[in-house]
Amino acid sequence: MAEIVFGIGCSHSPLLATKPEDWDLRAQDDRKNPAHPFRGKVYSFQELEQLRKAENLSEQIKMDVRRQRDARNQERLAQLSQKIKSAKLDVLVVFGDDQHEVLLNDNMPAFMVFTGKDVPFKPTSQERLAAMSEGVRVANWARVPEREMSLRGAPELATHVVKAAVGDGFDVAVSERFLDREKAESGIGHAFGFYYHRLMNDLVDMPKLQTLPILINTFFPPNQPPVRRVLEFGRAVGRAIRSWPSKARVGIAASGGFSHFVIDEELDRRLLKAIEQRDFATLLAEPETHYQSGTSEIKNWIAAAGALDGTDLKFELIDYVPCYRSTAGTGNAMAFGLWQAA
Ligand SMILES: [Fe+2]
Repeated sequence: MAEIVFGIGCSHSPLLATKPEDWDLRAQDDRKNPAHPFRGKVYSFQELEQLRKAENLSEQIKMDVRRQRDARNQERLAQLSQKIKSAKLDVLVVFGDDQHEVLLNDNMPAFMVFTGKDVPFKPTSQERLAAMSEGVRVANWARVPEREMSLRGAPELATHVVKAAVGDGFDVAVSERFLDREKAESGIGHAFGFYYHRLMNDLVDMPKLQTLPILINTFFPPNQPPVRRVLEFGRAVGRAIRSWPSKARVGIAASGGFSHFVIDEELDRRLLKAIEQRDFATLLAEPETHYQSGTSEIKNWIAAAGALDGTDLKFELIDYVPCYRSTAGTGNAMAFGLWQAA
């Protein structure tokens, strides 16, 4: 049977691919955003500034602090990139969300397994680039290849996972290709692309590696799967992989998080510790209102933690780097983690 031999979690924020001097570009977007979820309530940027005044966040956005944090992020990305390479995987299963890249509101599945033999991986069109805010545009390079390409999908494992998950009561959507549609991309979205481009160099050194994207709608109401469902889905995917008649070495990846666009270090540390200790009760006890907006991407980690729960691999938090970009506490807290043999 296939074996899950490795797990990885990595943030994919634009700030990871933006010079510290330009982090303010994303802060401009935060100022325009009228609704920031934070600790179960929703605030304007100005309300958040008031609310978090006592935290003295102006210290956190000083340029030398940003530079130190950026250097740490780049070092961690290099470290994780090397770890993926040395894991000698046959398949990398990636849990990620799609933010209106290939999935639009005409059809938004809660869970979708990509079953195609080729994963389309494409540069972003000029039209879409022009429509992005500048803070997102400057970082877009990290999640797309320079030239259109396809990566090897994992259709056999994907189909096995789908059948097993359906048997376990998960009505997963499937897709084997992405069509050209107005307002959509036809290449895999940012959560996956960041792994493939920034961490895996378009897989040029791993030409045989297959990848299986699993899309979870963490982000968009009203059908975001609740955390209990996400954890159980992850477990079902893990069981399916381990029952796949193959000698494949399989890795599990979680993409995105941790708290953003409002950083909540207490929430992050509580949940990361719970992942480390396999304390699923704590993950489940967190109200759904805490898993909203970009912070919802923590659910990609919870799915991965579920898939890895049936293994002996141990989670280690490699680093946690809260990257603030405004006095309202907006930014992105970066998390870098590995599940490895003890
Ligand atoms: Fe994201």
